[in-house]
Amino acid sequence: MPPEGGTPTGAVAQVVGAPNPRASSSPDGWVSGRGEIHCRRPAVRCHRIERFPVNLRPQPAKAAYYVSDIPFDNYTGPQFLAVFTFPFPPFRPISVQQVLVTGGAGFIGSYLVEALLARGDRVTVIDDESTGQFENLRSVAGHSALTVVRGSVGDAALLHRMLEGVQVVYHLAAAVGVALIAREPLATIERNIYPTQLLLDEISARHKAGQGIRFFLASTSEVYGKNPKPVWDEEDDLVFGATTRPRWSYGASKAIDEFLTLACARQFGLPVVIARFFNVVGPRQTGAYGMVLPRFVEAALAGQPLVVHDDGRQVRCFAHVADVVGAVIQLMNSNSTLGRIFNIGSDQPISILDLANQVITLAGSPSTVQFQTYTEAYDQDFEDIRLRVPDLTRLRQAIGYVPRYNLGGIIRDCIEAQKKQPPAR
Ligand SMILES: NC(=O)c1ccc[n+]([C@@H]2O[C@H](COP(=O)([O-])OP(=O)(O)OC[C@H]3O[C@@H](n4cnc5c(N)ncnc54)[C@H](O)[C@@H]3O)[C@@H](O)[C@H]2O)c1
Repeated sequence: MPPEGGTPTGAVAQVVGAPNPRASSSPDGWVSGRGEIHCRRPAVRCHRIERFPVNLRPQPAKAAYYVSDIPFDNYTGPQFLAVFTFPFPPFRPISVQQVLVTGGAGFIGSYLVEALLARGDRVTVIDDESTGQFENLRSVAGHSALTVVRGSVGDAALLHRMLEGVQVVYHLAAAVGVALIAREPLATIERNIYPTQLLLDEISARHKAGQGIRFFLASTSEVYGKNPKPVWDEEDDLVFGATTRPRWSYGASKAIDEFLTLACARQFGLPVVIARFFNVVGPRQTGAYGMVLPRFVEAALAGQPLVVHDDGRQVRCFAHVADVVGAVIQLMNSNSTLGRIFNIGSDQPISILDLANQVITLAGSPSTVQFQTYTEAYDQDFEDIRLRVPDLTRLRQAIGYVPRYNLGGIIRDCIEAQKKQPPAR
């Protein structure tokens, strides 16, 4: 192994077990074809690199080292300088990370914050409680590693302060939910584009200055629009309807977020991961903004009709939030995922009518199904997507994704949680 953090002054260090490292050199040192690390100046050390800029992208199962007197995280010079890769153990993230979660008081964000705290990270949450609530974080309220800030991602001065020392950003804050989008198309566009650009500008500037921040973007299956393919993979076309139909503004605004994120990866080497979520559900999700499962569970437990839009033959796939959050963290822990887009969700399709009937059965409810036209539910401009099924091949290849919950388990979990704790709104 290279002598981590301790190459003797001006000496040659033998790299044991690495006969063919990729040779490289820099003003500070070089690696020979025989795997020796040579240091040119007295103070230099061999540093193992724990977090990589996107443009280095070492293969999995390789470790990288560089020779310098400056720890790699603080290194602000050209990034290809003095980096050597070896077929050594795979990348391990540093044990404690400083993380910022935007939208961390939301449904998915609150599970993510819990999971990050559980693995020892220090977490700051920014949320304006526009659709979420800090009450979602009550299980970790007062945690010594959690800082909660009520404010907007659109506040440049606040963002600047919050990003100090941060190593990983999970950007989940957005205007979410079909009903909200139909009601407030302008707010959707403003909330989903401007704050993302502001955040990326700030992160890119810090990245260029050497802070080294990984960025996660929560995107959505809505970016596929109404692509007629039965199963959507990440390279498929985005097929939106007319701009006179406001519902497409959500998918289009998230697509702009993806373009912005990928542009920062290409132009500045920002390490980014983008996930397109497909119908994430679970306890704590509110039905107030049009989410179907919490609406159904609430109605079934109250013995009221389950309102199904149109003919109920629209097909969706539902994934438990715990499975989704686990996948997000794994994607961000890997180097092979950087600069890429991943579908995350379930690929087990069910029609909305069948979902309603399953909820009624599992809740042991006397409720019936009541049909409602899209015009009654939204307005005459509403246009829906009939079939929404992800191809999860890329996700499985990257992290070996196997969800723990099937649909029955998900519905039961939501019913039990709803029985114990009705939503505040
Ligand atoms: N739930 C799903 O099925 C699903 C599907 C696809 C994509 N997503 C994406 O996942 C992310 C999280 O969604 P969710 O379901 O948890 O929704 P959510 O509404 O519960 O979470 C969004 C959070 O962001 C906050 N927020 C919004 N704008 C903000 C701003 N400008 N500044 C600070 N906070 C702000 C809200 O108050 C809320 O707490 C979103 O980006 C959404 O687009 C979710």
